[in-house]
Amino acid sequence: MLATQRYYLFSLAVFIVLVSFTFFFFRQDEAVLYEKIVKNPYRSSKPGLRDTILNLFESIKHDPTNPHFRSAAGQTYTADSTSTWNKPLGKRVLIVDIDTRVPTGANQLLNPDTIDFEHLDMHGGGLVSNAIINHYIYALIHGYDYKFYQAAHIPEHHDTWIMPHVFRELIPEYQFVVAMDADVTISHLDLPLEWLFNRWGLASHTSMALPWDTEEWRGNVSISRDSKYLRVLNTGFVVAQNNPTTLELLDAWRDCTSELRYPGCAHWKENWSHEQRAFSEYIRYDFNATPETIVSIPCDDAVGWPGFKADNEDVSPGISDCNGNFVRHYTLGKDMVKAASSNAVMQAVSDVLQRSILKEQESMWVKEPEHAKDVVQSEVREGEGEQGGEVVVDGIMGPGRR
Ligand SMILES: *[C@@H]1O[C@H](CO)[C@@H](O)[C@H](O)[C@H]1NC(C)=O
Ligand SMILES: *[C@@H]1O[C@H](CO)[C@@H](O)[C@H](O)[C@H]1NC(C)=O
Repeated sequence: MLATQRYYLFSLAVFIVLVSFTFFFFRQDEAVLYEKIVKNPYRSSKPGLRDTILNLFESIKHDPTNPHFRSAAGQTYTADSTSTWNKPLGKRVLIVDIDTRVPTGANQLLNPDTIDFEHLDMHGGGLVSNAIINHYIYALIHGYDYKFYQAAHIPEHHDTWIMPHVFRELIPEYQFVVAMDADVTISHLDLPLEWLFNRWGLASHTSMALPWDTEEWRGNVSISRDSKYLRVLNTGFVVAQNNPTTLELLDAWRDCTSELRYPGCAHWKENWSHEQRAFSEYIRYDFNATPETIVSIPCDDAVGWPGFKADNEDVSPGISDCNGNFVRHYTLGKDMVKAASSNAVMQAVSDVLQRSILKEQESMWVKEPEHAKDVVQSEVREGEGEQGGEVVVDGIMGPGRR
């Protein structure tokens, strides 16, 4: 081997060693840089509200494939088939509160001042605030999307007419849009919509689902039936599923009062029950291609509240008994909404805490052994001697109190 050749090989070896080192250093740098990004002190590592609520209530969520649901009050409900909606739909579902009343007044939710829940008033924006709290937390627990839609008044129409066009506007982004009135409360926050969809028989081709209204009488005349004497559907809780029929249906409902498709519909612009009556009078007959296209939810499941008939029999004799088994609608009892929605939240929180404390009872539940009789007696004597104050033994007031 020539000296130049040896020198050449040596240089090559040195070069290779240097290159490997450089590579190693760069890798090091990359690792350091990565560490810096991950551990950026300016970025919080805390999970957001959505993840926190999702985790918090994970343990109590009801499985949509379980055919039975037992309420906290001990009543068991059944879903005949659980095969259609057997996986969480998550953000393919939007829960929306649609209102012209904007809750930005004093002690209302969209006013940045701290909310004083105890003094939250159940009228106007206060009622809307309460609804947002109940509907938003339900959406968070099950991973659904949530929006508050501040709608503008439609000239010459009663404000409830905002619903059809808002549905039409929002549904292209979702599989399901679910709207509830401000006086509607979800009572079992642990029970997902998927389970309810199974119970109510929503099919993959269903367009809309809404409950039968309560039947109310004025004298011998029902005020809850359409011109064909069929009971109306209530628009306090409405489910819409995105498909071509639904889009056409929502167009027709939105434009109903133009009378291009439904002569006579303009009557319901401002006359009760507005868009609700228009839906029952025209839409449900026009779009009943299959029995599942428009699903009628039992009144007992989604209108009224437990004890509804007893509470209203005086003012409205013969009113039907709808107990709001899953969705409570306080049409005639707005003062009861706040207790219903706070109870729903406390029920869920209590359930979570109960499970935790029972699971961790080794460390959280201190069980003092029973005191022997004579030990207690000597403690009593000591107490008397030192303070002469009140002493309680087995629930009987000691001498100090008398
Ligand atoms: C209701 O109908 C009954 C019998 O059909 C009748 O006796 C009664 O007077 C009616 N009441 C009203 C308020 O019309
Ligand atoms: C509302 O109903 C009344 C009584 O039936 C009727 O005279 C009026 O024209 C209706 N309003 C509209 C906007 O059609």
